[in-house]
Amino acid sequence: MQPRTRRLAVYLLSVLLLAFLVYLRKDTKSVVSSASKKPYRPNQKRAFRAPELVESTCLPDLSIANSSTNLPEIHRVFLTYKHCRNFSTLLKPSPCDTETFLLLAIKSAPVNIDRRVTIRNTWGKNTIVGNKLVRLVFLLGRSEVKVQAHSLSQLLAYESLEFDDIIQWDFVDNFFNLTLKELHFLRWFAEDCPDTRFVLKGDDDVFVNTYNIVEFLKDLDPEKDLFAGDVISKARPVRNTNIKYFIPESMYPASFYPLYAGGGGYVMSRLTVQRLQVTVEDTELFPIDDVFVGMCLAKMGMSPALHPGFKTFGIQRPFNPFDPCLYKELMIIHKLNPTELWVMWTLLKGDGLRCAVSGSHKL
Ligand SMILES: *[C@@H]1O[C@H](CO)[C@@H](O)[C@H](O)[C@H]1NC(C)=O
Ligand SMILES: *[C@@H]1O[C@H](CO)[C@@H](O)[C@H](O)[C@H]1NC(C)=O
Ligand SMILES: *[C@@H]1O[C@H](CO)[C@@H](O)[C@H](O)[C@H]1NC(C)=O
Repeated sequence: MQPRTRRLAVYLLSVLLLAFLVYLRKDTKSVVSSASKKPYRPNQKRAFRAPELVESTCLPDLSIANSSTNLPEIHRVFLTYKHCRNFSTLLKPSPCDTETFLLLAIKSAPVNIDRRVTIRNTWGKNTIVGNKLVRLVFLLGRSEVKVQAHSLSQLLAYESLEFDDIIQWDFVDNFFNLTLKELHFLRWFAEDCPDTRFVLKGDDDVFVNTYNIVEFLKDLDPEKDLFAGDVISKARPVRNTNIKYFIPESMYPASFYPLYAGGGGYVMSRLTVQRLQVTVEDTELFPIDDVFVGMCLAKMGMSPALHPGFKTFGIQRPFNPFDPCLYKELMIIHKLNPTELWVMWTLLKGDGLRCAVSGSHKL
């Protein structure tokens, strides 16, 4: 295909996906809101027939459920299913090329189609960066909304076929199950990507300056430990039940978390990823995935390294995406919307960016 035709095809496909997403959201809402009145009957006219999803057979530990009645519902669910660590793979991409330099492993929820479209068309687009092979994959669980899971599974199968970048496991995709995603990702890496030199693990609402990441990694040894990101020290567990990150003393009695890097995005060497997998297999799950990784690093006797280019605990707003100096040392910015990602990528890949502070230094 001509590059132009190809671009047009990708554009049309994106529009179609978005249109379907809008349709799906509308559909789900009407189903959910009328659920109390009458049972849901699948629309016979719908073109998509999703395959039946097989529920996991791991049973809840009821003795824990009984001894934690004072905790919020989600914490009780977490504790009663904590021992369930083996879930089947619903979709997976082809294994990594042995020459893969950098794997971009991005946590995404099934419904975030718009974010995946944006990433594929912006910073996740180039398969070669600075002569190095880069690979993009998205890490997904199952949609929490039953009806949505059904319709989305067909769409995801299509995305997987078209882009070969979807890994989906058979567990509910929610905040408390992100540690399961970590564990299953590490197993997949060991199995299908053992030769990949470096991994960037991140969220689907980050901007990644892939040029700077490759530049930073290119002279480093994948067979030496490396874990770099936005490291915070002496973070205190949140004890207020109204906050998303609430952790009761019974789940984590100490006053501080170990050093950990914000889960929005960090980079690791192959050796560290492999060692992390061994450690994770031997560690009890904890609901906050980036803290959990910090706990495992501590067990490995390793400290994550702070790099100022990783802005995962947010960037001060308002910020000016048109400021060329913003991109100079930048690796990652967290919590951006698709429009911001697109604007930043367009500026970054354009040739005109010059940061006045160091006139001759291009990016
Ligand atoms: C948990 O509590 C329920 C109801 O109070 C009781 O029927 C059940 O036997 C208890 N299960 C365990 C394992 O203690
Ligand atoms: C998960 O699988 C591993 C290896 O196959 C096995 O050793 C372990 O007991 C399984 N765990 C559960 C909870 O099924
Ligand atoms: C995690 O996923 C499993 C499998 O889908 C589910 O049984 C469990 O309830 C989920 N955990 C939480 C805390 O929602």
